[in-house]
Amino acid sequence: MPAIALILAAGMGTRMRSRLAKVLHPVLGWPMVQHAAHACQQAGLAVRVVVNHQEEAVRAALGPLGVEFSRQSSPLGTGHAVACALPDLPAEGTLLVLPGDAPLLRSETLAALLAAHDQALCTCLSMELPDPAEYGRIVREGQAVRIVEAVHLDPTERAALREVNSGIYAFDLAFLHEVLPGLRPHPPKGELYLTDVLELASERGGARVILHRGPPEELLGVNDRWALSQAEGLLGERLKRQHALAGVSFQDPASTRVEVEVQLGEDVVIGPGCVLRRGTRIQSGVEVGPHCVLADCEVASGARIEAHSVVQGAKIASGAVVGPFARLRPGAELRAGARVGNFVEVKNAVLEEGAKANHLAYIGDARIGARANIGAGTITCNYDGYRKHRTEIGEDAFIGSNSALVAPVKIGARTIVAAGSVLTREVPDDALALGRAPQVNKEGMARDLRARSAELARRAAELARGEKEGRNG
Ligand code: UD1
Ligand code: CA
Repeated sequence: MPAIALILAAGMGTRMRSRLAKVLHPVLGWPMVQHAAHACQQAGLAVRVVVNHQEEAVRAALGPLGVEFSRQSSPLGTGHAVACALPDLPAEGTLLVLPGDAPLLRSETLAALLAAHDQALCTCLSMELPDPAEYGRIVREGQAVRIVEAVHLDPTERAALREVNSGIYAFDLAFLHEVLPGLRPHPPKGELYLTDVLELASERGGARVILHRGPPEELLGVNDRWALSQAEGLLGERLKRQHALAGVSFQDPASTRVEVEVQLGEDVVIGPGCVLRRGTRIQSGVEVGPHCVLADCEVASGARIEAHSVVQGAKIASGAVVGPFARLRPGAELRAGARVGNFVEVKNAVLEEGAKANHLAYIGDARIGARANIGAGTITCNYDGYRKHRTEIGEDAFIGSNSALVAPVKIGARTIVAAGSVLTREVPDDALALGRAPQVNKEGMARDLRARSAELARRAAELARGEKEGRNG
């Protein structure tokens, strides 16, 4: 019978000091508990999750993974959590139990634990730590083995014991069904400890403790915010290393964040200070300049992202150039050779082949035809305070600087729009549109105005002098 994994995710996580349940805190783009579920699924295990605190949110977060849930009536400890799931589990077979707060755990380690478990009653995965802090300690006395929680240690045990419980175990299900109902609550909080099951198995000669061979960080249990930061750092390092070994250059890995579900092709170069969020997909050979933030986007080979650009929910084709200092929002699509330069924002808009908006523009809810040029300061006025409207610009159009295109509006192919225009009506193909007050020149008037001002100033000075002399004389 294939083993089943049970993830304990019902606790409050008080030590996080957060309104958000601990297992929902994100670690590089996934809620912590999703990392645990993912590792189990990678190991080929069916997953069941014990929920209680913020149950609906935990169910929603894991729903898409196709896992099952059991409900812990109230969070009375890890032993109680497993006991609450027992009615939903088979009478016999192997059950893998793991906490929802171990986001670095790898599927290989779970598989190794199951292999080591074989037919034992309880197999616990342990690790050795220089400073075991809050972890439960493994206590070995001859053949007997048990776990003592940190709060129950006396000072000599605290100083001596370095081997700790990772909180990850394999159990014989028939044995669990038999012994779990008999667990006794522990002071001070009256919790039922799952750790007690190891001692019960030991009494029957069926307990194993397997020391984890790899680096102990993998079994890190996140109880507080500092451990959360460490988990993000360590997992980030692992992900960046994987990408690097697959052909990606990170110019400054320490300042670069790479989340889960990021795809990077060979010869991708990532500049210092970049943040690559979940769903970023970059094809081979693309260079991303320093300090860019990318999320949920597609960048094709031959495109370039220059420094300080923010790209979210966008699609960038080969030969397109973004930035420096550009912002692409969801629905932005740059076709081959399109260009979006500094301080240009694009939202829900397509720039067709070779279209350009090089400086200071807002393009929202629009389609810009091939090779069209959008001058500096151009705004698609897409919002009338109530609804959003579209702007259509034909191919080879030239939009002069500082134009306001009041949507809904259509500007034909090969048109020229004079700088500073405010356009509210359709412009037919090949037309020149002037949407501004006509210019008026008054010949010589500047010179006359200056002369008049000078004359007035002279007379005022004369008057002032006359008054002063009158008073003195
Ligand atoms: C637990 C172990 C400890 C081990 C450590 C490893 C016990 C008694 N202690 O301590 O020996 O070294 O993990 O990280 O098991 N949970 C529930 N329901 C509850 C309580 C907890 O579902 O009533 C869940 C939590 O959501 C969490 C997991 O169980 O995901 C572990 O709980 P936590 O409070 O973090 O246990 P530790 O104190 O770390
Ligand atoms: Ca923990």
